[in-house]
Amino acid sequence: MKKTFTTLALSLSLLIPISSFAKNNVVVVATGGTIAGAGASSTNSATYTAAKVPVDDLLNAVPQIQNLANVTGVQALQIASESITDKELLSIARQVNDLVKKPSVNGVVITHGTDTVEETAFFLSLVIKTDKPIVLVASMRPPSALSADGPLNLYSAVALAASDSAKGKGVMILMNDGIFAARDVTKSINIHTNAFTSQWGALGTLVEGKPYWFRNVAKRFNNASEFNIENIKGDALPLVQIVYGSTNMLPDAYLAYQKAGAKAIIHAGTGNGSVAKYIVPTLNQLQADGVQIIRSSRVPHGFVLRNAEQPDDKYGWVVAHDLNPQKAKILAALALTKTKDAKEIQRMFWEY
Ligand code: DGL
Repeated sequence: MKKTFTTLALSLSLLIPISSFAKNNVVVVATGGTIAGAGASSTNSATYTAAKVPVDDLLNAVPQIQNLANVTGVQALQIASESITDKELLSIARQVNDLVKKPSVNGVVITHGTDTVEETAFFLSLVIKTDKPIVLVASMRPPSALSADGPLNLYSAVALAASDSAKGKGVMILMNDGIFAARDVTKSINIHTNAFTSQWGALGTLVEGKPYWFRNVAKRFNNASEFNIENIKGDALPLVQIVYGSTNMLPDAYLAYQKAGAKAIIHAGTGNGSVAKYIVPTLNQLQADGVQIIRSSRVPHGFVLRNAEQPDDKYGWVVAHDLNPQKAKILAALALTKTKDAKEIQRMFWEY
């Protein structure tokens, strides 16, 4: 009996390449974007249709990734990321959560549009309980373009997701050889391949399939987060909207968002999150009506100081610290799934 079993085990093992046992298992979750785009000609680097190429074609176009890991693909969505709503964001999070809970999955790559990849990455860093690498990757040029950046970005993202050194680093965005932290990376150039930056710098860089690390995230994420996708029901988060600060503002946008049901409004203020004196009364009325005011800034670097030019303690307002308006919107929506208390919400903005 024992001899039969040994023979069977040996013959089965010969069917599976030994190399497969040595490699981690990485799942690529495709959602659309330019990395799956198609242009009319190879010289169309910015004129194309996003979200056209299916995941299997993306993977087959870079066969070298199979040397890095046992890679499989899932087509979760096929949309341009500016069109992602709470429904798609929650669906991506639930699918990624299911994948990382599988012992057979060692890492996840998500192909995504560049326009809102920073929001998706930040959301996943707040709601997924795992220390497995989750790497979002995109491209600024479609695969049909000369010097397309997608294939090498995808190769590098798979290398990162397959790397044991990436465990516990949090959710990352891999773009243009850069390894960026979900919480502080942002799309800062809208037409070049070096589009993504962080004012606190990259976590590291990845070259020829090998990651090199230079810093870690100082804030809470994934297993250290108080949020969990499994505790979020339905297809919508509490409604939060953003108003962009400028000169000669009107209060109408804030009031329209309140009427639409916003539970918090991110004021993307000038300078250090400044509020025009003729807008302050409207924001104070909204705060009194139960709409949480959160001051962020339209300025890309630095962070909003509490009680600097605005008496936040007196008004009951929250400051977004270094989170840009679109990241502040994500954290505010999650905070509101747990509390409406301004002091508690402010704590969350200090900690995440
Ligand atoms: N429509 C944009 C998006 O899907 C294209 C930008 C890109 O993916 O690079 O985010």
